Amino acid sequence: MEKVEIIKDIFWVGAVDWNVRNFHGHTYSTNRGTSYNAYLILDKKIALIDTVYGPFAQEMIERISQIIAPGEIDYIISNHVETDHSGALPAIAKLCPKAKVLGTQKCKEGLHKHYYADWEFSVVKTGDKLELGKRTLTFLEAPMLHWPDSMFTYCPEDQLLLPNDAFGQHYASSGRFDDEVDQCSLMQEAAKYYANILWPLSSLVLRKIEEVEKAKIPIKMIAPSHGIIWRKDPAKIINAYVSWAKNEVKPKVVIIYESMWGSTERMAKAIAQGIIDNGLEVRIFDVAVADRTEAIKEMLDSKGYLIGSSTHDNGMLPAIAGFMQFFKGLKPKNRLASAFGSYGWAGGALKELESGLREAGVEITQPGLAIQYLPDKDELQRCYDYGKDFAKRVKA
Ligand code: FEO
Repeated sequence: MEKVEIIKDIFWVGAVDWNVRNFHGHTYSTNRGTSYNAYLILDKKIALIDTVYGPFAQEMIERISQIIAPGEIDYIISNHVETDHSGALPAIAKLCPKAKVLGTQKCKEGLHKHYYADWEFSVVKTGDKLELGKRTLTFLEAPMLHWPDSMFTYCPEDQLLLPNDAFGQHYASSGRFDDEVDQCSLMQEAAKYYANILWPLSSLVLRKIEEVEKAKIPIKMIAPSHGIIWRKDPAKIINAYVSWAKNEVKPKVVIIYESMWGSTERMAKAIAQGIIDNGLEVRIFDVAVADRTEAIKEMLDSKGYLIGSSTHDNGMLPAIAGFMQFFKGLKPKNRLASAFGSYGWAGGALKELESGLREAGVEITQPGLAIQYLPDKDELQRCYDYGKDFAKRVKA
């Protein structure tokens, strides 16, 4: 196993999880796997920044053991309680009984409720410093980015930011740095991560970036706790975060639907054609079979959303209902939307979809489009015109 030295005397001691396909329960599909990044800083005092997910504890301990005896660790800095970063804490803490754990007050409480251990713990706050020798680490609390306990650690001597989940990606790779991987897939994974985890927290993201900019903290490298390390172009991910957090969008439409016998699907395709013929980019997802995490990623930079469902038992179908539940939590701003769907004898899906759209806070541009049973030629033309009309509003 080669040692990975990211800066002189600072080592990546994490683990790559090539095979994980679902994260946070089943709320996030990790088609490209992920990594759990932990970092070891060698100085007069030795600090470990975060750990890894529990099943990878031994891999982290082996990486650390190639560099130092784990018992030499003086500090374990816990930027975040969530188990993908603290899961290996009990195993490493056993090997370095003299090490003190540092984190926010919420981190202290959260770790206690996870592990019920009696580690020596120091609570740190924004601006607190930790002298290691040549280096002095500084802490910056980042509550709700994305848990109450979240914190960033900064090393001014190396202009290195260790922001835990922020700026991460669920992206397993043999390269550890941004300049070693395909840029397109990297940015897709970064966008997917932002859309599915941080989007509802956008106002806090913007405030935190402004706080860092005001403090004039120079950043040469960002080493998050998932995915690659930004060493070539850290500004690229900061600028992307600013754009996503500001809800900047393209004239693009995402159509999400679920169809019982294919009528709502035929409507979705005719509507899409009306939008495409007006020159807009369209993405279509049948939510009963498509990857929801990918669909949410496509919504991140799209101005328009069209949501469709056949009516079943006077309401929407179950997969689209699950999607709407997730979607409402994202709180997108500056978006236009409308609903459509087929029905047999009594409708009901549209009412539920529109209620979900209102709860999500998007602007409903036009009355929903409902068609009974299978759409005939004229009704398909209505779908096409509805798509055209929606495209015009999105363009405007
Ligand atoms: Fe919030 Fe990567 O855990």
